[in-house]
Amino acid sequence: MTDTPREYIAAIDQGTTSSRCIVFDHDGRIVSVDQKEHEQIFPKPGWVEHNAAEIWTNVQEVVAGALAKARIGKEQVKAIGITNQRETTLLWDKNTGEPVHNAIVWQDTRTDALCRELGRNVGQDRFRRETGLPLASYFAGPKIRWLLDNVEGLRERAERGDILFGTMDSWVIWNLTGGTAGGVHVTDVTNASRTLLMSLRGLEWDEKICNSIGVPLAVLPEIRSSAEVYGTAKGGALDGVPVASALGDQQAALFGQTCFSVGEGKSTYGTGTFLLMNTGDKAINSYAGLVTTVGYRIGDQAPVYALEGSIAITGALVQWMRDQMGLINSAAEIETLALSVEDNGGAYFVPAFSGLFAPYWRSDARGIITGLTRYVTKAHIARAVLEATAWQTREIVDAMKKDSGMELTTLKVDGGMTSNNLLMQNIADFLDAPVVRPMVSETTCLGAAYAAGLAVGFWSNIEDLRANWRRAAEWTPQMEAAERDRHYQFWLKAVQRSMGWLD
Ligand code: G3P
Repeated sequence: MTDTPREYIAAIDQGTTSSRCIVFDHDGRIVSVDQKEHEQIFPKPGWVEHNAAEIWTNVQEVVAGALAKARIGKEQVKAIGITNQRETTLLWDKNTGEPVHNAIVWQDTRTDALCRELGRNVGQDRFRRETGLPLASYFAGPKIRWLLDNVEGLRERAERGDILFGTMDSWVIWNLTGGTAGGVHVTDVTNASRTLLMSLRGLEWDEKICNSIGVPLAVLPEIRSSAEVYGTAKGGALDGVPVASALGDQQAALFGQTCFSVGEGKSTYGTGTFLLMNTGDKAINSYAGLVTTVGYRIGDQAPVYALEGSIAITGALVQWMRDQMGLINSAAEIETLALSVEDNGGAYFVPAFSGLFAPYWRSDARGIITGLTRYVTKAHIARAVLEATAWQTREIVDAMKKDSGMELTTLKVDGGMTSNNLLMQNIADFLDAPVVRPMVSETTCLGAAYAAGLAVGFWSNIEDLRANWRRAAEWTPQMEAAERDRHYQFWLKAVQRSMGWLD
């Protein structure tokens, strides 16, 4: 008798700094990982670009690498799931498959003036009402307009129907499913909800909004659910395998953390930090500076919405301390340095390097360190760096409470910075709520794998997935309320001082 070969799901995470592929088994355990970084291109201050051809090459390599490391054949892979850095914008020629320009990355601020102009002409409120998003350079729509205005002859080609737009999910899926030889041009509702072009409640491109930004409908992909078979891979290591999910990376992490009930939320600590809370079938309009977004949609089921607090700079601040300031040699050293003193020595660090995202949306803010006296050492600054991430989390959680009326009883966390115990303890203290981390901290890929597995019947329902979630660590609050409140007031004062810098 021969053993039945085991079956797996592969997930591709096309992220901001790297592309990776992870193979998961039926228990949601990691079987293998392969990862490759790509170049960060900074043509001017505030501009950030990626080479999409390099990214597609890397994706193919990590897929082949992960399968080789798992020692499995493509016939054992039941589906491929895709997750991706959101908002990063690419236009390519559908006849040649060539990108017309580098991808413009979500952190890029070149559309700042365009957004202000659109705000004056069309009105901020209209965008928020229809799309759930504030009019900000973070999102994709204005980036498309910038490309159409700045790449010679592009608008005519786009209007003729020769040009395709995609966030990185669309680019990867189009290439995976055949590219110029019949690739499917799709995106999912979560990625589409980050463009400023989709009606949040209708889940279709809003023609009037597209016109007002200046984006022809002809370039836009078809909007599909987050979990369904879009097509099958053609060629490459996964030839013939169904491509069965797409979710923006933060929504994928929400799914991977199994936040399936209203009020459940997660926070992912990477370059930036993104806290999402499931609000069920209600798209709650934010009055407190959050973003209303689609959490996920499984096949033809009703969409699940989320409120999101997006923070641009968290892990990036630690990298800045290492690479630009040379105050630490490795990211991990920030914790050792911070633990060498008892508190922040009165120093507060507001890392508004790309302006402030939620809940302020102030592109005129810039980073500041305040509260300095001669007493302050680099160890106090290290402490202030970690506290900045924790206080920003607190501000997002406060905004969530205001918008939803719901208390976040426990915060599920994931991402690279969760290995920093001091930071996790700070977050529990500043929120006055427990913080928990799951066994599988690769929740982004896991979420994409779960959605793809549901689409092809590898997992039968979300209860199967919940059963896979296991707690690895927990931090409980230990700070006195009066102390917390005193520090919070200082933090809020510091944030106010970071704003209006460009006036
Ligand atoms: O909205 C931006 C976010 O999707 C980026 O995530 O993990 O690729 O930095 P990450």
